[in-house]
Amino acid sequence: MRRKVTVVGAGNVGANTAQKIVAKELADVVLVDVVEGVPQGKGLDMLESAPVEGYDARIVGSNGYEETAGSDIIVITAGFPRKPGMSRDDLLLANYEVVKSATEQAAKQSPEAILILVTNPLDAMCWTALKASGFPRERVIGMAGVLDSARFRTFIAEELDVSFENVTAMVLGGHGDTMAPLVRFTNVSGIPLSELMDKGTIDRLVQRTRDGGAEIVKYLKTGSAYYAPAASAVEMVESILKDKKKVLPCAAYLEGEYGFHELFVGVPVKLGRRGIEKIYEIDLQPDEKAALKKSADAVRELIEVLKQKVQ
Ligand code: APR
Repeated sequence: MRRKVTVVGAGNVGANTAQKIVAKELADVVLVDVVEGVPQGKGLDMLESAPVEGYDARIVGSNGYEETAGSDIIVITAGFPRKPGMSRDDLLLANYEVVKSATEQAAKQSPEAILILVTNPLDAMCWTALKASGFPRERVIGMAGVLDSARFRTFIAEELDVSFENVTAMVLGGHGDTMAPLVRFTNVSGIPLSELMDKGTIDRLVQRTRDGGAEIVKYLKTGSAYYAPAASAVEMVESILKDKKKVLPCAAYLEGEYGFHELFVGVPVKLGRRGIEKIYEIDLQPDEKAALKKSADAVRELIEVLKQKVQ
């Protein structure tokens, strides 16, 4: 049976996500956007590269949600990106409306789907989608940790001049300035990072990871990163559709895990056909716990703002 993925938002992140999904033949794709003609045009353009690149997945663009019915996964990238000087949190209220309406419409057409959120501020948008969809928590997942870890892995590999593939890193917490890169769980082919670099270097790379999104925004000036975010969302899509059960850092709705309640926080999860199949609760040291708590507190503040707005 052919798989179907809906990508909402045909902008930079959405279009790249859609393109990678069809190029890898993971699923047929429906690309949805509010701007008339854009999803249709981009979708057709991608379809026309199928004979050249040799893939057989279909893609169609639309301004509505009828075509999305029966999707296995809905990836939400709709919303406004950051401009220089803006934090992800500055996007809160504008993107709340976008994500709420997109989720409601998409969830209605595909009540069994798994939602993957990409729109920022990520953890607050996951909360918005959970409430708007009414889906169980294992089917509402945020993409942040895969990207933040990929950035950390990139900087480590470059610093040591080793293969990117050999670097395993774990960045937990919220997708913001307070994210928690966990050095103790970061290694190169099993060799702990602390064996390979001094503390000063590690601290510098940790900070660069925290500022990773802003570094790109500063270069681009008119928007935020999209190649690595799209690649990260697609790794999650692939793990779910192929039931690979990859263990990845993702934003998950916690109900007591790590001592947090009713909050999306980036934690290691197993991603399979049922969505989040397991949340790994690892034993953290006091400084790691404190970093995670600081990050979760920042997420909670945004949720409080949203709750006030909703009531
Ligand atoms: N429904 C569908 N699409 C929408 C809606 C909506 N209600 N509102 C806006 N969009 C579309 C826009 O028309 C645009 O095509 O969302 C798309 C966003 O694309 P870009 O502006 O290129 O932004 P992008 O870089 O893709 O980032 C999107 O992902 O990484 C996050 O912080 C980023 O929140 C931002 C989101």
